Amino acid sequence: MASPEVIQQIKSRLDVVEVIGEYVRLKQAGQNWKGLCPFHQEKTPSFVVSKERQMWYCFGCNSGGDIFEFIERLEGLEFPEVLEMLARRAQVTLDKTPGGEPNQRLRLLNLLEQAQKFYNEQLAGSAPAQAVRDYLVQRQITADSLKTFGLGYAPAEWDKLSNYLRSQKFSVAELVAAGVAVKSERGPGVYDRFRERLMFPITDVQGRVVGFGGRVLDKEAKEAKYINSPQGPVYNKSLIVYNLDRAKAYIKEAGFAVLVEGYMDVIGSWQAGVRNVAATSGTALTLEQIKLIKRYTSEVRVAFDADLAGKSAAERGIDLALTAEMEVKVIALPFGKDPDECAKQDQVAWQTAVTQALPIVDHAFMTVLKQVDASTREGKKTAAASLLRAIAKLPDPVEQDYYLKKLAQEIGVDELALRQRFGAQASSFKKESIVTPAVPVVVDRQRLIAERLLALLLRYTDGLSGIMTDLPAEMLGAPELSELYRRWLIYYNKVQDFEIDEFRQELQVEAEMLRLLDVLSLRVEGDLADLPEDEAVKEGQVLLQQIKQNYFSQELKQLSAAIREAEKQGSAAELQSLLARFNEISQQLSSLQS
Ligand code: UTP
Ligand code: MN
Repeated sequence: MASPEVIQQIKSRLDVVEVIGEYVRLKQAGQNWKGLCPFHQEKTPSFVVSKERQMWYCFGCNSGGDIFEFIERLEGLEFPEVLEMLARRAQVTLDKTPGGEPNQRLRLLNLLEQAQKFYNEQLAGSAPAQAVRDYLVQRQITADSLKTFGLGYAPAEWDKLSNYLRSQKFSVAELVAAGVAVKSERGPGVYDRFRERLMFPITDVQGRVVGFGGRVLDKEAKEAKYINSPQGPVYNKSLIVYNLDRAKAYIKEAGFAVLVEGYMDVIGSWQAGVRNVAATSGTALTLEQIKLIKRYTSEVRVAFDADLAGKSAAERGIDLALTAEMEVKVIALPFGKDPDECAKQDQVAWQTAVTQALPIVDHAFMTVLKQVDASTREGKKTAAASLLRAIAKLPDPVEQDYYLKKLAQEIGVDELALRQRFGAQASSFKKESIVTPAVPVVVDRQRLIAERLLALLLRYTDGLSGIMTDLPAEMLGAPELSELYRRWLIYYNKVQDFEIDEFRQELQVEAEMLRLLDVLSLRVEGDLADLPEDEAVKEGQVLLQQIKQNYFSQELKQLSAAIREAEKQGSAAELQSLLARFNEISQQLSSLQS
């Protein structure tokens, strides 16, 4: 599809640190950048980005690549989409039709973009939209917001949008797949899904329109207040967090995301200057949505609609967020039925409420202790039951401990008794599986040792080349490591000198070798940068020893198995040669250990 030149061109125009920096908080560390790996759960950063090499690598989960692989993995996109996205960003035009169909998904995205423009123009220009424009004024939605959020108007006619899109050469099937039209029950035609509604475009993290929410205008109407795009090839509501594309930079800046329920709440908050705001659109947060948010922050502050506090779908999402080890705080609305109302009435009050959000358990303490009389036996029981439940949801035992103490004090109950009760109760709140699969990252120790030794060799060639001369390549284990080492030996013997960049030139054609070399170089630049040469040599000797020991022990294991087999088969000649080999290797091993 895309030529290597085009890919190269895109790469050369984009900065890996900038692109990845939109998803991962990166800090400069020497000549590279470091951050927490978005692909596995970790507390200390082992995710490294190299500007010079235009690549990333995680030493924790041993994965890495270029920006294409990063976006592909993180956004869960197919290569053509990543290409399209990065090309657009790099302002490189792609030759779209080399022998065929442009990607169907991209066509649907294009369709939705045109639909959004259509609705937007209807809102701005059409006479019947006057009522909507009045409505926006009445809801205090500014002209700026109208633009920022790309609001629109779906006209009352049954086929206005469909006709327009058909004239733009989209097929009926595409209109249906994109969710903007509905198949007619009688006859072959379609009609517009959204009619006589205020339209909110729903965008994905990259800002592409993937669907719509349409709000009814007539208060007396019997239809649903909102109609949303149905699930389809481009719209998957459990993967979308409304406004996250616009909010993500603000979220990173603020260090937390404000989560509200509705489109209107987002706009209200945005206008009040709280722009790190996104909406769950009235449903419980899904694991995918939490993962998405976690790319930018590990703290969410949620604001429930006043009438829903404590019993909404949002609450279920919160439990999930807690299990995913996000910090969850609750924003208490000082007045108004929802964040939108509060923010419109008093911007500062909304800002303050956001600033003063309480950790979820503290919030629970506050509400529960307001409701019960903790001086009575009944009150103590109710408070304990409800707050122990809240405490049990915290994933961190240290935090649990803190709140257990606090609870004992607040309701005047013996701490020990409370703890006993908690122990019995907590096990019944089985935790759901969390965001990052609980599968531990498997660390291949042997590989780590081999990689480290090679990294040392690349960095301190002069010091180490001497001790390396008696290391046979196959002892390094992993075939690609052995191969790289073999290539290095050839290179080194030829030029009797080592320049990493020249060596790169030699490897130029072999992508896999180059990748490996890059990873090793990152190691060199990272942990080895300040290692004095004499220590490097000492460490090299130890590693070499370990590699040989591992190798010989493994050989011995295999030989023993072969010997047992040969004994069973009764093949004397083979047995003899195996035994000879076994002795030979045992001797080598013991000479290493002495
Ligand atoms: P709200 O009823 O709070 O709507 O539902 P709102 O956006 O705040 O609008 P106003 O202020 O009443 O005008 C919260 C969210 O739940 C989803 C929408 O995403 C909405 O923004 N919802 C609500 C639906 O999808 N369908 C509905 O029928 C109602
Ligand atoms: Mn509302």
